[in-house]
Amino acid sequence: MCGIVGYVGEREALPIILKSLKRIEYRGYDSCGILVQDNGKMHVYKSVESIDYLKANLSESEYDGKIGIGHTRWATHGAPSKKNAHPHLDCKGEIAVVHNGIIENYQSIKDGFLSNCAFKSETDTEVIPHLIHQTFGKFDQNASQQTFGKFDQNASQIKEAVKEALSRLNGSYAIIVAVEGFDGLIAARKESPLVIGVGDRENFIASDVPAVLEQTNRIIYLEEGDIAIVKRDSIYIENSGSEVKREETLIEWTIEDAEKGGYEHFMLKEIHEEPKAIIDTLRGYLAEDEINFGVDFKIEGDAKGKSILMVACGTSYYAALCGKHIIENLAKVPVQVELASEFNYSDFVLDGTNVMVMAITQSGETADTMMALKKAKRYGCKTVAITNVLGSSATRTADETIYIRAGPEIGVAATKSFIAQLVIFYLLGLFLAKMPESEFLEHLEELKRMPQIAMMVLDEEDITIQKHARYLSKYEHAFFVGRGVNLAISLEGALKLKEISYIHAEGYAAGELKHGPFALLTKDTPVIAILTRDNIYEKTLGNVKEIKARGSPVIAIAEEGDEEVEKYVDEVIRVPKTGAIFSPIPNTVALHLLAYWTAKERECEIDKPRNLAKSVTVE
Ligand code: M6R
Repeated sequence: MCGIVGYVGEREALPIILKSLKRIEYRGYDSCGILVQDNGKMHVYKSVESIDYLKANLSESEYDGKIGIGHTRWATHGAPSKKNAHPHLDCKGEIAVVHNGIIENYQSIKDGFLSNCAFKSETDTEVIPHLIHQTFGKFDQNASQQTFGKFDQNASQIKEAVKEALSRLNGSYAIIVAVEGFDGLIAARKESPLVIGVGDRENFIASDVPAVLEQTNRIIYLEEGDIAIVKRDSIYIENSGSEVKREETLIEWTIEDAEKGGYEHFMLKEIHEEPKAIIDTLRGYLAEDEINFGVDFKIEGDAKGKSILMVACGTSYYAALCGKHIIENLAKVPVQVELASEFNYSDFVLDGTNVMVMAITQSGETADTMMALKKAKRYGCKTVAITNVLGSSATRTADETIYIRAGPEIGVAATKSFIAQLVIFYLLGLFLAKMPESEFLEHLEELKRMPQIAMMVLDEEDITIQKHARYLSKYEHAFFVGRGVNLAISLEGALKLKEISYIHAEGYAAGELKHGPFALLTKDTPVIAILTRDNIYEKTLGNVKEIKARGSPVIAIAEEGDEEVEKYVDEVIRVPKTGAIFSPIPNTVALHLLAYWTAKERECEIDKPRNLAKSVTVE
């Protein structure tokens, strides 16, 4: 995810901005940029290299100016490049903006209200400085001039212009605005975090506490809809047109704690970001009940012989297995899923004209998946990369790319990226579906409920999930079982548990245990059973009864209101009820939390499990 920082005070801004950006470097970025205001003039420096590179290439004379803003970019709209790096400026170069978030309606603003502007980048962000410039005229008595530097640095006018500009935006943002000649900064937020660090005759702004913690531990958390005028010795905050007071919080965390947002591990932070990953991924492709992937991508739902082949590894493979069920259920398009490492050396028969190949890969760099993608191309298949990382190898190889919008994932165990992959499959299923509109809208409404559903599971963390994790942590072997769309989720649950807690765990189709693994069932082999009330609920419950009869303790993941299940299992983790096809979302959040807390109980090295790497770039 992008990071933004700002400084206004008595010290030189540039070293402070660079230091603050370094503090959020761990979140990952592909380019960076800063702006320093020196004697009222704005100077911008950008780089597609590192922050260190940017620093090394700035000459000493440029280390002047007491106001600055900075940005680390993690590309969403437009490739990583200097022109797409922030800050972005208006046509006259007098208004500069750094932005975190996604502006959903930027294209219609560009085509409509701003059709006369010359845009320099492909970003959604660039509409903001242009909009501020255009709207400023309304608040300026000498509108024809529209030159900020001439004015009396009237903070209130600038704030009103920013407000008016923001009112035209759909989407999410945390922004910092610098205006030539203005002795302060404007900060505003909607659905993206933003804080003000309070100093002595200086103030800081940042998307993340760690960015400013070295300078001050006095933090004001801006709230939804806040807009602030931040000057050297004053902070004015307004919400819905009236001034508001926001309390200062004294942060006691170390910088290292703060990087993890106060969570002990990145993995836990990332699990807690799952609702946001769902929102951001939906937001990328869904506007006013229309799904648009913005790529040349068509496959007729009922066309004879047309199908999708997904290739992937690890967690992405399990996401693909789940995606198969989702797409086949919603769109009735046949989907086959292959492990990339197997596909690469198999005698797989591929009909290039009829099979579309999708490479599912969070990092976009996994060697096996890349090989599979290249093999599909050799067969003449249309190829699509589904990935989290803009500009990654997969995006450069595939014909088309669909980005999941999970934000950078630091923990080796994939969590929020898995959830975001599922969201893409729901969108794909609905995009390809030929169902009556009322049915389509019903599914869409359910999909839009998923962030809230995920939050409800997170609310269970302290009460039930930690308790069950303490129980599970005593065992050395476990089975995870599920059926249908939740078979893949049981495989994912087992993978997550084994990779971070080192408990031997196996995911299995619930109906398959009796064909062999029953021999392993004892009182020391707990079974985690996904018992969603779907069309095969009774069958899965039957399988659970068979398991119980062999003496294994059973923990069920079951829906609220399902009282039946209590009779047959030892423990129940409750998840909210959803349409059956959407049940993988709450079930996954529950299993991710269960794996995390079990590993924590066993005092494992959670973010960097032994022998594993985040991105496996060797065969
Ligand atoms: O970046 P990718 O999605 O291609 O990575 C694939 C696997 O290496 C990855 O999912 C791995 O299984 C994770 N450690 C699972 O948590």
